[in-house]
Amino acid sequence: MHIVLGVTGGIAAYKAPDVVRRLRDVGADVRVILTPNAARFVSPLALAAVSGNGVIIEQWGHSGHGGVDHIELARWADLLLVAPATANMLAKLAVGLADDALSTYAIAHRGPIVVAPAMNTSMLQHPAVQMNLAVLRERGVIVLDPDSGLLACGDEGSGRMPDPPVLADFVKQQFATRDLEGRSILVTAGPTREPIDPVRFISNRSSGKMGYAMAEAARRRGAKVTLISGPTAIPAPAGVAFTRVMTAAEMHKAVMDALPSQQIVIKAAAVADFTPVAVADHKIKKQADVDETTLTLKKAPDILADIGASSPRLFIVAFAAETDSVESNAREKLVRKNADLIVANDVADPSIGFDSDQNAVTVIARDGSSTKIERAAKIVVANRILDLVVERL
Ligand code: PMT
Repeated sequence: MHIVLGVTGGIAAYKAPDVVRRLRDVGADVRVILTPNAARFVSPLALAAVSGNGVIIEQWGHSGHGGVDHIELARWADLLLVAPATANMLAKLAVGLADDALSTYAIAHRGPIVVAPAMNTSMLQHPAVQMNLAVLRERGVIVLDPDSGLLACGDEGSGRMPDPPVLADFVKQQFATRDLEGRSILVTAGPTREPIDPVRFISNRSSGKMGYAMAEAARRRGAKVTLISGPTAIPAPAGVAFTRVMTAAEMHKAVMDALPSQQIVIKAAAVADFTPVAVADHKIKKQADVDETTLTLKKAPDILADIGASSPRLFIVAFAAETDSVESNAREKLVRKNADLIVANDVADPSIGFDSDQNAVTVIARDGSSTKIERAAKIVVANRILDLVVERL
């Protein structure tokens, strides 16, 4: 594993020597490119010592790395990891600017690129940063979502660089054998929206992040992936067949249509259990003398139960979102929905599960065994879940 580690000028740059050490622990040979701003936060000497290689800082006439220029380095490298990635570097990568050693190298680099954005939450949420991340994702760059917690500026929120062992583990996962090559996998993600009238609907807090991470991880491991998604703010991932749906009934139809060519189904979507009996043609008006009203609901199609009944040869991974008795409720659903594995999410914890960048789950198998997956970025959790699928195929 030949890794180029690009370090940019955010406070998390101080963790770079540990990132190098962890990468070496998982068997990587590491060369570091520091931006001049990053060199204010972390010593090039320390990075040279832990990597065992010279560190590149200057775009021109860089010395101390064996005379290798960015084209030669690109021939050597298997993967570019930019961690931490500042808003400035994300913008340069998105538009292809090449005005320092790292952004120039990124243009020359031909293998996979992983970026780990790290910055203050409000900077991360700025539309320009989000747009640059969307552009990079669309281009196939892997964006490792930041962790949430206490930030260097004292704020609480999303924007922390994942810990060095998590980064190293993720990089290692990118070199895993393409163990899902030749497999067709259907993934569902996101919420459904059940309309009440033309302007109102019933829905839930699912963002789609977990399901999209499952689709992305499966694609990278060689699977042919079909992603059927409810309404989310996430762009369609590159390289997967993508269908957008709105309601549980639409998701049911899309899943059933796609099912005959699938071998594995991963149901991460949070599908409505009930839907209004009737949808009003016009916006329902508030009446001055009415203090209470009743909405009559009927059962929505149970997609998973129908899959289990119609295609016994499929390998089925269900998800369960629970607020109490998480494991026992998930075990009951595993049996009722006829799944092979069920991923139990504790959605009472706002820092994981719904709409968070991280998750921590317990995966329960049909034989009763269970595996805890510790808190990590959803893409890391997705790969762990796929490890368990592959073990059982
Ligand atoms: O999307 P994120 O913000 O990243 O959040 C991730 C998540 C918490 C939504 C996700 O990981 C998760 O737990 N998804 C399942 C949520 C859910 O609907 O759980 P459930 O216990 O209600 O349903 C159990 C299973 O049956 C699920 O696989 C679900 O897709 C399926 N189901 C449910 C109802 C229905 N009508 N049809 C179904 O197929």
